[in-house]
Amino acid sequence: MSAPAVPAARASCPFETMPSVTELRTAHTADLGASTTSAIRDLMNAVFDGVSDDTFDNTLGGLHALLFEDGELIAHGSVVQRRLLHGGRALRTGYVEGVAVHAGHRRQGHGGTVMAGLERIIQSAYHLGALGASPEGALLYTARGWQQWQGPTSAMTPDGIKRTADLDGAVYVLPVSVPLDLTGDLTCDYRPAALW
Ligand SMILES: CC(C)(COP(=O)(O)OP(=O)(O)OC[C@H]1O[C@@H](n2cnc3c(N)ncnc32)[C@H](O)[C@@H]1OP(=O)(O)O)[C@@H](O)C(=O)NCCC(=O)NCCS
Repeated sequence: MSAPAVPAARASCPFETMPSVTELRTAHTADLGASTTSAIRDLMNAVFDGVSDDTFDNTLGGLHALLFEDGELIAHGSVVQRRLLHGGRALRTGYVEGVAVHAGHRRQGHGGTVMAGLERIIQSAYHLGALGASPEGALLYTARGWQQWQGPTSAMTPDGIKRTADLDGAVYVLPVSVPLDLTGDLTCDYRPAALW
C-alpha cells in the first residue's frame, strides 16, 4: 500500500500570524534532563555575564520554574532549601536563586510569572522565603510584596559566624508562617559561593 499523500507546500503558512506560545513548567533538578540544565546555564551565563560553577550549583537541588516561549527557555528561577537562623530558630527557608529573564523579553511580566511559581512552593512548604537581590531584581521583588531585611546579616562558616555587612540591605524575605523582626539578626547557612 502506498503512503498517504502529503499535501503540497502552501504558498503562505497559516501559522505565520499565530501568537507565541508561552508555557511555565515546574520541575525538580532531578527531572530537568541534560539539555534543560544546559539551557538554564546558558541563560544565566548570558544574563549575568558568565557564572561560576559554584554559583550555578547554588541554583540546583530544588524546584525550578521554567518559562518557555515557542520551546526556547526565556526565563528561570529556582527555590532551594536553606536554614536561616533568626530569633533563636533555624528556619526552613525556600531560598530563591537564579532568577533571570532573557534580555529581549523583559518587562513583559515573565519575571513575575516565574516568581509566582516559586512563591506558591514557598508558601506551601517553608517558614519563609528569602533571596539576595540585585538592584534590578529588588524592583521586581518589592513589587511582589517581598520585604527588605533591615537588620545585620551574617553567615555560618567553617570559622564560625561571620558578618556579611556588604550584603546588608540586599537580602529580601517573604514571610510565611513565622513572625520575623526585620530589624533583627539574620544568619544563613554556609556554601562555597555567594553566601546570600
Ligand atoms: C529582574 C528581572 C528578572 C525582571 O524580569 P522582568 O520579566 O523584566 O520582570 P516583570 O516584567 O515581571 O516585572 C514585574 C514588575 O517588577 C518591576 N520591575 C521589574 N524590572 C524592573 C526594572 N528594570 N525597572 C523598574 N521596575 C521593574 C515593575 O514593577 C514590573 O512591573 P511593570 O513592568 O508593570 O512596571 C530581569 O530584569 C532580569 O533578568 N535582570 C537581570 C538579572 C537579575 O538581576 N536577576 C535578579 C537576580 S536577584
